[in-house]
Amino acid sequence: MMASAASQTDRWQLPGGGPESYQRFQVPSLFEPLADIFLPRVAIEDGEHVLDVACGTGLIARRVAPIVGANGHVAAIDLNSGMIEVARSLPAPEGASIDWREGDATSLPYEDGSFDVVVCQQGLQFIPDRLTALREMRRVLKPGGRVALAVWQSLGQSPCNLATAAALERHVSAEAARGLHAPFQLGDREALGALLVEAGFTDVSVEADAIVRRMLPAAESIPGHLASTPVGPEIVALEESTREALVAEVSAALVGYEDDEGLAIPQGTHIALATRSAGSPRG
Ligand SMILES: C[S@@+](CC[C@H](N)C(=O)[O-])C[C@H]1O[C@@H](n2cnc3c(N)ncnc32)[C@H](O)[C@@H]1O
Repeated sequence: MMASAASQTDRWQLPGGGPESYQRFQVPSLFEPLADIFLPRVAIEDGEHVLDVACGTGLIARRVAPIVGANGHVAAIDLNSGMIEVARSLPAPEGASIDWREGDATSLPYEDGSFDVVVCQQGLQFIPDRLTALREMRRVLKPGGRVALAVWQSLGQSPCNLATAAALERHVSAEAARGLHAPFQLGDREALGALLVEAGFTDVSVEADAIVRRMLPAAESIPGHLASTPVGPEIVALEESTREALVAEVSAALVGYEDDEGLAIPQGTHIALATRSAGSPRG
């Protein structure tokens, strides 16, 4: 009994603070599979200078460094000092060295025309002044340079989060459920394209795609998933019976996504590409 009670509790323990949990739980299940479909679209080449905006713990920057090689350059910036700290602590990849910085996407600390490519994987939707951030991305691009954004589609295209938000609303509060909506708030394809046009980009394209989010069987993975959400600390502090009810409800909603290895859940994203036209004026 004691061992089982202890393991029940352990299922809800996450190491370190938010950035460590993000790196351990969110990056492997969500952001690595996304990088697998996102980066080939960007077609980064040897020797290019690349900026990763809202880099988080640095997955994209680390993948780009060997692609651009020692003749290229990679810079990466994030608002959250904890994210940058984790990024700096991880093993450096081969190829270009990475210039990590803590800073705001709406006021980029780089000269005009510094980069061939600006990438931003699941960052733009979290920035209150998105238009200013996009104008900054354009400013730091060389004429002819390109921007590439990955932005989740709406919550309806993310069954795992949809089920989690519904269960939170029922068992915790509407406010807790709203905490899960932020990543999906720029899910409208046309709105994303229009923002890029308004920021001065040309050759704008926005395509829909999806990752498959792989998780262990629900009983093993859903507690860790819930604990690593933005409302994780609130969930971990709930009564054991409420947490178990949450796990049971989310697990039941995801039964249709079970396979022999656990859960395989689609999650829709938009991938937007655009250019700073070669003839465009500064800024
Ligand atoms: C979902 S994470 C994505 C991280 C990373 N691009 C990845 O693919 O793993 C969103 C990131 O956006 C960052 N962010 C939010 N607002 C920002 C801003 N104004 N400037 C720079 N980074 C910002 C957050 O700190 C967080 O690390």
